[in-house]
Amino acid sequence: MDLEKLSVINTFLVVMWIMGPAYIANSVAVLTGGRFPIDQGRTLEDGNRILGDGKTWSGLIGGTLGGIVFGLILNTDGGHSALERLTGEELSREIWGENPIFVFTILSFGSLFGDMSASFYKRRQNLDRGDKFALLDMYDFIFMTLFLCLIFQKAWLTSWILDGWTPLFIILFLTPILHRGVNIIGYNIGVKNEPW
Ligand code: CTP
Ligand code: MG
Repeated sequence: MDLEKLSVINTFLVVMWIMGPAYIANSVAVLTGGRFPIDQGRTLEDGNRILGDGKTWSGLIGGTLGGIVFGLILNTDGGHSALERLTGEELSREIWGENPIFVFTILSFGSLFGDMSASFYKRRQNLDRGDKFALLDMYDFIFMTLFLCLIFQKAWLTSWILDGWTPLFIILFLTPILHRGVNIIGYNIGVKNEPW
């Protein structure tokens, strides 16, 4: 795929599409989460929880599966024609590389693993579950996702996201907006405790 040939708007759509499972994994975790804290209530020497009650197995497993299922749906014929209609471009059917299921798995799991790593860091900074940590809360998941892709799917990642700077800038620009937007909706419909 040659993103450089697409207009900025279309690059934007394709980037969202590709990263979709990572974004969805986070939202699904909020819906399925809340049961079976991963740290089982344990604390470290600083007296704070390892991760806190906001990181649970039900969120991790539900979110990872949700992201994978979402990826599989996007990767159907219907999904591909929807993207082609949306962009008006004929796009490669291999936007997730040769092993899409593996890519969906690292996109989804990476997203939640990043979120978990941030919670670990927040607890070490004496921040309670749900306390705000602006930049970290917004970018944690996307950085870990990209990092895991860089380790496990370097060729695929470099073939699109490091193809010029546009895709990366779009991700950095869009992630906080999407993150905040979805959380405000989640807060207003009562599935999330805080609007961040
Ligand atoms: N959630 C979960 N398990 C996960 C991720 C999220 O159960 N692995 C659920 C929790 O109910 C959590 C909610 O999704 O409260 C919102 O996620 P997030 O904002 O990441 O957690 P916080 O409660 O803000 O906790 P933290 O301060 O640790 O980020
Ligand atoms: Mg939070």
